[in-house]
Amino acid sequence: MAKQKNIFVCQECGNESPKWIGRCPACNNWNSYVEEIKITGKTNARHQSPENKTSRKPKPFSQVEAEEYSRQTTGIGEFDRILGGGFVPGSFTLLGGEPGIGKSTLALQLALDINKDILYVSGEESAGQIKMRADRLELSNPKCLVYNETNLDEILLHFNKEKPSVLIIDSIQTVYTPLIESAPGSVSQVRECAARLLQAAKDSSVPVLLIGHITKDGSLAGPKVLEHIVDTVIQFEGDQHLNFRILRTLKNRFGAVPELAIFEMKENGLHQILNPSAYFLHHNDQDLSGITVACTVDGYRPLLIETQALVSPAVYGTPQRSATGFDTRRLNMLLAVLEKKGKLTISNKDVFLNIAGGMKIQDTAADLAVITAIISSVTDQSVNSKTCCCAEISLTGELRPVSRIEQRIAEAKKLGFTRIVISSYHKNAESKGIQVLKASSLQEAMQSIFRSND
Ligand code: TYD
Ligand code: MG
Repeated sequence: MAKQKNIFVCQECGNESPKWIGRCPACNNWNSYVEEIKITGKTNARHQSPENKTSRKPKPFSQVEAEEYSRQTTGIGEFDRILGGGFVPGSFTLLGGEPGIGKSTLALQLALDINKDILYVSGEESAGQIKMRADRLELSNPKCLVYNETNLDEILLHFNKEKPSVLIIDSIQTVYTPLIESAPGSVSQVRECAARLLQAAKDSSVPVLLIGHITKDGSLAGPKVLEHIVDTVIQFEGDQHLNFRILRTLKNRFGAVPELAIFEMKENGLHQILNPSAYFLHHNDQDLSGITVACTVDGYRPLLIETQALVSPAVYGTPQRSATGFDTRRLNMLLAVLEKKGKLTISNKDVFLNIAGGMKIQDTAADLAVITAIISSVTDQSVNSKTCCCAEISLTGELRPVSRIEQRIAEAKKLGFTRIVISSYHKNAESKGIQVLKASSLQEAMQSIFRSND
């Protein structure tokens, strides 16, 4: 007999409690508990007794054979790359992102830009709306089946009947199972539906792509639980006012993390950007003061990004420090180092820092470029537009080494830079075709950078 029980579930982390509590003891979120009805007993398919399950037994490790994945290409090269080379059979992938970022567009492109049987299940848009979007994308795949359904049992029924080569669910928050009485999108529903879809993926060896929404604070909506059960978590990021979108792998059981791919949203869908550095760098052959190019790495991708600084006398009593695309606390730290070690007075000046193109830099290798841009603005001396910088600055004003230096130098060379300034810790870093200038301190670096202008 199935039993019904009223419980309270934290919508952020899935923690359960018999009574309502204001603050979740597991994830410390306030007001996240919602009443849900939990049904336990035989009706729950996953809780059936194991007699009718396959006769899998524990076996010695020496007898286990490594699985060879024959990866399935998705038809979008950059998406393949962030998956680690395409879909692995039976893999369970979650694509998360804010509303309107382009998840459905990407999923539809994946479904239509390839000549394979794909089952595209949408709980958010009608088949007609999907067709309209497909027309806009100018894509059509006669083998793609579109299914407008939210009931999980129906979805699984058609999935088993059609046996597609990929199943796409847009989105997991709209799917529900009648076995659980809480609303679609609640933690219990999402957890149960995902678990059953996972089982279907593993049993049939068909890769499943789930689309998931993101909450206000940027985490994948409600189900932190979901992140644990899926094989791969891909996050779609970007500013809705800017055209570029970043796809980032946050977790991947079958590939490298953190991989990164950049797309551009255009009138007719998402376009891959195969050379992101060139995309963010607007070649300006004029040497302008306050501009320095940083050689950063995001994920495994080297990206050359322009940093712009403007330093002007403070009009009000307290000088302003403002940074776009860069951590303000790190900017303050760099300014303090500059004041102390560089003997430059900036405490009475406003400092504005902008990372061009709307990118956000988290790599500390951009430190040197930020400091150079600031010095360049203060002294009104421009930096050669063919010079780029790549080093972390320590509190003592030393240049610290950074990861993947060879890759960074190679990328700078590829994009036509003739000089790169790095830390002298990288003793063996050399390259033909680009001058690698090494410095151990800020003073040394500045001498190289501003001297190399001649
Ligand atoms: P969508 O894929 O519906 O976002 P999500 O599923 O993540 O909520 O993307 C919608 C946005 O993308 C919308 O603002 C319009 C824009 N868009 C384009 O700019 N070009 C296109 O070709 C398409 C299909 C959408
Ligand atoms: Mg959508």
